[in-house]
This record gives sequence, structure tokens and C-alpha cells, in this order.
Amino acid sequence: MVKRKRGGVFVIILVAVAALLLVGYNIYRHPAMFRHLSNESLSGEEVKNLRATIAAAEDKQILVAYFSYSGTTRNIATALSEELNADLFEILPQEEYSNVYTQSNREIRNNERPALSDAVENMEEYDVVFIGYPVWWHATPAPINTFLESYDLSGKLIIPFYTSDGSDIDETMPTFLDSCEGLAVYGGRRIHETSSLQSWLADLNLNFTGEETSQAL
Ligand SMILES: Cc1cc2nc3c(=O)[nH]c(=O)nc-3n(C[C@H](O)[C@H](O)[C@H](O)COP(=O)(O)O)c2cc1C
Repeated sequence: MVKRKRGGVFVIILVAVAALLLVGYNIYRHPAMFRHLSNESLSGEEVKNLRATIAAAEDKQILVAYFSYSGTTRNIATALSEELNADLFEILPQEEYSNVYTQSNREIRNNERPALSDAVENMEEYDVVFIGYPVWWHATPAPINTFLESYDLSGKLIIPFYTSDGSDIDETMPTFLDSCEGLAVYGGRRIHETSSLQSWLADLNLNFTGEETSQAL
């Protein structure tokens, strides 16, 4: 009888420990989970109007800014800048990640803003700013938040694009939008291959080629 009771207690402890480990693992995997995230970016109507104004402008100044750890986003950003004849800027943290998994996890969890090594000197000249990055921990890498908060980006169309091993827009946008107060964020998409660029650019309907085509996003 006592033995059976002990066995029961052991099983309960085992299940409790397993449950705690599972919860802990999931909290680690989603470092932005308990952060307060706000979205004070511009409304759909305001973004629509800005898109129309920029689409109608003949000479658009375009910047493709990107952060990339292992090269995938860099390839997309480079192809995008070539396609659009746009300026290309690499967002680089001042300090290299020596253990990218633990450091990036901490940055996202603590809502940190790692310092960047360089700045865009002529940001005021751009009408459209593409911002590319890899999804990290179902969120936006902290250097992107630093970048977004380092400039006055109001009046520009901000177009995020990102690469990932599967995570999609709903996972990464809340932490991106958290740094977009008053900004017009438009047409973001997961672009994992350069072959998807053409159809995305057509969908953006920004008259990059001199011809407005389909319905705007
Ligand atoms: C620290 C870290 C966290 C990551 N978290 C995710 C994730 O939550 N979801 C996902 O689909 N991919 C995740 N990945 C994979 C990258 O998003 C993916 O490989 C991306 O394309 C890499 O882009 P890059 O080569 O430009 O750095 C993660 C990669 C790293 C290094």
C-alpha cells in the first residue's frame, strides 16, 4: 500500500517536472512573449494615401536596408536593390554576436537596443525604405528596432521583408511595429528566394517601372 502511494507521488512529481520543463522551453523559444508591445503605426487609409502619392511621383528615392547574420537576407536585399536601382545599406551591430542564440534571445526578451556601427547619412532623401531581416525567435532582431528608432522615418513608406526557416508575418510584425510609432508600414512579406521578388514588387504597386499595374496591397 505504502509502496503504491510512493509510486503515485513519484509519477506526479515526474509529470510536474516535465510540465515545468515544457513551459520553460516555450518561454525560452518565445522571448517577446511577455513584453508589452504597442502598434502606433499609421492607419490603413493613411498608408494607402501615401502609397498613392509615392506611386505617382516620377523620381522615387529608394533605400534597401538590411540586417543579415548568415547571408540569406543579404542575398535578397542585394537582388532587390539591383532590381530597383536602389541604395543598399547593411545594418551592423557594433559588437558581433559571439553566441547568437543566447545573446539575441536576451536582447529580445529585455527589449534591448544594441548599438549599430554605422548610420545612413542622407535618410531624409528617401521616399521608400525597405527593411530586411531574418526572423529571430519568432520576433524581429533587436538591431532592427535600433535602426527603426534611430531616424525620423515619418512620411516615408516603410516596407519590411524577412527571411526565416518557416515563421511568417504574424509572428514577426508585432515586435517590428512596436518601433513604428507614426510610420507608414506597407506590404511586408516573407521573401526567401530572389525568384519571389518580381511578383511581390508588382503587388506593391508602387509604379517602380513607370506603370501602375494591379490593385495595391
Ligand atoms: C538566433 C536565431 C533565431 C532564429 N529564430 C527563428 C524563428 O523563430 N523562426 C524561423 O522560422 N527561423 C528562425 N531562425 C532562422 C533564420 O530566420 C533563417 O535561417 C534566416 O533566413 C537567416 O537569415 P540570414 O542568413 O540573413 O541571417 C533563427 C535563426 C537564428 C540565428
